[in-house]
Amino acid sequence: MPQYPTDFQLMYGTAWKEEGTADLTYKALKAGFRAIDTANQRKHYFEEGVGSGIKRFLSESDLTRDDLFLQTKFTYERGQDHRLPYDPKASFSDQVKQSFASSQKHLGTETLDSYVLHGPYQNGGIFEEDQETWRAFESLHAQGKVKQLGVSNVSPLHLQQLLDFAEIKPTFVQNRCFARMGWDQPVREICKSNGLIYQGFSLLTANSAELSHPAVSEMAISLQKTIPQLVFRFALQLGMLPLTGTTSAQHMSEDLVLLNFELTPEQMKTLEGIALN
Ligand SMILES: NC(=O)c1ccc[n+]([C@@H]2O[C@H](COP(=O)([O-])OP(=O)(O)OC[C@H]3O[C@@H](n4cnc5c(N)ncnc54)[C@H](OP(=O)(O)O)[C@@H]3O)[C@@H](O)[C@H]2O)c1
Repeated sequence: MPQYPTDFQLMYGTAWKEEGTADLTYKALKAGFRAIDTANQRKHYFEEGVGSGIKRFLSESDLTRDDLFLQTKFTYERGQDHRLPYDPKASFSDQVKQSFASSQKHLGTETLDSYVLHGPYQNGGIFEEDQETWRAFESLHAQGKVKQLGVSNVSPLHLQQLLDFAEIKPTFVQNRCFARMGWDQPVREICKSNGLIYQGFSLLTANSAELSHPAVSEMAISLQKTIPQLVFRFALQLGMLPLTGTTSAQHMSEDLVLLNFELTPEQMKTLEGIALN
């Protein structure tokens, strides 16, 4: 069974924050986020800054590392810039070991709650590169260094092939979630039938045209919520674990207000089909 604390309804994403990463991670934790997503991919994330923000928060709080859910990723060379956390000439298996050791250092933790393959090696399916990499992930899991595994940026084919191959199945699937693709319905279906948790990102940015539909603003007004609150609540009710990477303290607090309202089946249906309108 996936282990994901049910009181963590929303995950804070740390991409594209550069020098602001430590401060924003700290602010997100102060606001009440307990689940943090990052990656050992310096091109888009500053993982060391995430570690600094966590350290500062824990030093001022009664909470401990175990009260947090920390997730990071292994990224292949083609998704990186020159600031690689491993030797690119090493085998994939060794690259995973090196990247993981560097993440442990950056985040100041021996164990990670979730370790995610940032994206498959090839678009067309899961081949030998991913198989070697996944075996290295499984080895980290077997050693108790990683509690759960995940995969990101997958098609239904990738996910099904990984599920067929894996001895330790992924617990998490993290994908960009487009309303025009039924909110990634085919991937979410596979997640549902295999008991995996779907983490949705770009829920706002990938769907700006659909979210500007009058039906969405009318619903938000009638519920006295913002459109992002509506979208994150919708995602939650669809069974997703949504991500937000807001840089605004006000949006952080607003986004966390997901539990004090509920969308009706009718409202869910409207939002599910919003791309068809
Ligand atoms: N696996 C992958 O390949 C991958 C790819 C992309 C992202 N991610 C993860 O997902 C996280 C979130 O990324 P994202 O693409 O979903 O979006 P994002 O980076 O959080 O961007 C959201 C945008 O919407 C704006 N916004 C306005 N009101 C908001 C509100 N109430 N709450 C949140 N945002 C609001 C934000 O502006 P303000 O800052 O002013 O609020 C920001 O410009 C990333 O940090 C990363 O951890 C993973």
